[in-house]
Amino acid sequence: MDSGADTAGYTTDIVYPSAFGVFQAPVHLASAVALARRAAPAVDGRPFAYCDLGTGAGLTLCVLADCYPEAQFHGVDINPEHVRRARALAAEAGLANVQFHEAGFDALQRLDLPTFDFIALGGVYSWLAPELRRACLDFANARLAERGAVFVHYGALPGNAQVDALYSLLRQAADAGSGDSLARFGEAVRLLRGLRAAKARFFEHNPYAAAWLDQLEGQDPRAMAHEALNAQRASLWAGDVAAEAQAAGLAFVANAQLEMNDLCLCAPEALRDELSRLPRTTREMTLDALRNANSRMDVLMREAAPAEDAPPSLWLDRLTRGPLEEERRTLSQRARCDVTAPAYAAVLAEVDGVAAVALPDLLASPRLAGVADLRTVVERLVALKLLNVLRRPYVRGAAPAMRVSKLNAMVLEERVEAAGALPIASPVAGTQLLMPLEDRLAVLAMLGGDFDGVWRRLEARGRKVVQAGRPVTSAADLKAVAGARAGRLGQAMRERLAGLGVLV
Ligand SMILES: C[S@@+](CC[C@H](N)C(=O)[O-])C[C@H]1O[C@@H](n2cnc3c(N)ncnc32)[C@H](O)[C@@H]1O
Repeated sequence: MDSGADTAGYTTDIVYPSAFGVFQAPVHLASAVALARRAAPAVDGRPFAYCDLGTGAGLTLCVLADCYPEAQFHGVDINPEHVRRARALAAEAGLANVQFHEAGFDALQRLDLPTFDFIALGGVYSWLAPELRRACLDFANARLAERGAVFVHYGALPGNAQVDALYSLLRQAADAGSGDSLARFGEAVRLLRGLRAAKARFFEHNPYAAAWLDQLEGQDPRAMAHEALNAQRASLWAGDVAAEAQAAGLAFVANAQLEMNDLCLCAPEALRDELSRLPRTTREMTLDALRNANSRMDVLMREAAPAEDAPPSLWLDRLTRGPLEEERRTLSQRARCDVTAPAYAAVLAEVDGVAAVALPDLLASPRLAGVADLRTVVERLVALKLLNVLRRPYVRGAAPAMRVSKLNAMVLEERVEAAGALPIASPVAGTQLLMPLEDRLAVLAMLGGDFDGVWRRLEARGRKVVQAGRPVTSAADLKAVAGARAGRLGQAMRERLAGLGVLV
């Protein structure tokens, strides 16, 4: 560790729980860059380099390293425990293409690092002092490849205005407490709950702040303490970040929430014309007021990043099945944009009709020659997740051996029972795969996994598995249920996972 590392009030005595950052996947960032019609870094099997600043305990970077064996990944974090865990995960998963560096952002320029095609700042930018934000952007300017992309995910205004005020009070109260961050956070929360019960006007007039306090119940206190106690936490407007980027020679090019780049998908009809005439940053801020955004994910590039000369080498496919008519109807109502129109059906039919379609081929298809504004139609389907962007073609009818990567095997063995999505690495998709618990258990059964261990952990966490309305009551029972599902879905599931490169 750089001994002079400046934590500048960043909490380091609480380990931040890992979650996979789906929006910082290279394939997703390449899509966002393409949406801005800039030349995107290639993610189709050619080597590239990726840097994750404030990488945490390394889950995201390890999953990405598993998805892109041809690329080099570097993670930087100031918290020694995060770095220790990240290194242990990479070592256990046998990943040779990821390195973790224990260092503060003030020491970035001194690290021996290559030029990067991607630099990510996931959930850390707005928690940093201004000089450290600048250090990160200067590093990006110094190390970013010509067509490189920077991902900046931060707490945003105006959605956080009330919560920021609450956090300041929490920090002040926690500073007066004793013990480690978690204990001081607990004391501060008790004080504020007392205020709320006493009908303090702040809570009466600021319902979001009141709701934040109420929803603490049932949240992981470590994550909440980590977030709330960081002395520098101050949410930012999109305009602040764009100005800071500009001062470091970078420019905002796209919102990583793809649908936010298309007024048809994110703004009421009455406002679209006016919004389309606004400078881009003003438009972003206006849209953020419209949705009261409390977090943002921006994609930055060099001011002089080249415009694209051809659509990028990305692949389009559908990872869901069925005709999508109902989904399109519902999305049309929600997005106030008619994606049931024939142009959308024509593109979906083109993709469904073949194994997988390269984006340049789809855009050049003679059958779609009559579709007006074809690229926008395709991009809209992608933004609405009716089409998926992949980095390699989804392989149909692949005959899999029953082998998963070491990381995926570890995730399946050790965390199969986790609530919510588990990040199973898919080298074809270039990002995580979401699998519900029943499917994960079925795959574990196919792989001959350890159900006694899974059952012990489920019991320890008080999690119940219900099968056809009946509770599962033992490890043997769980294995039988998972085995039955594996038997029912076996071939289809195997083929699907092979198509996504999870089973090889
Ligand atoms: C909220 S966590 C986000 C972790 C991960 N990127 C994610 O999205 O899950 C922020 C991380 O940034 C690290 N960090 C904060 N300040 C830092 C600094 N000055 N230098 C290096 N790392 C820092 C913290 O230790 C922490 O692991």
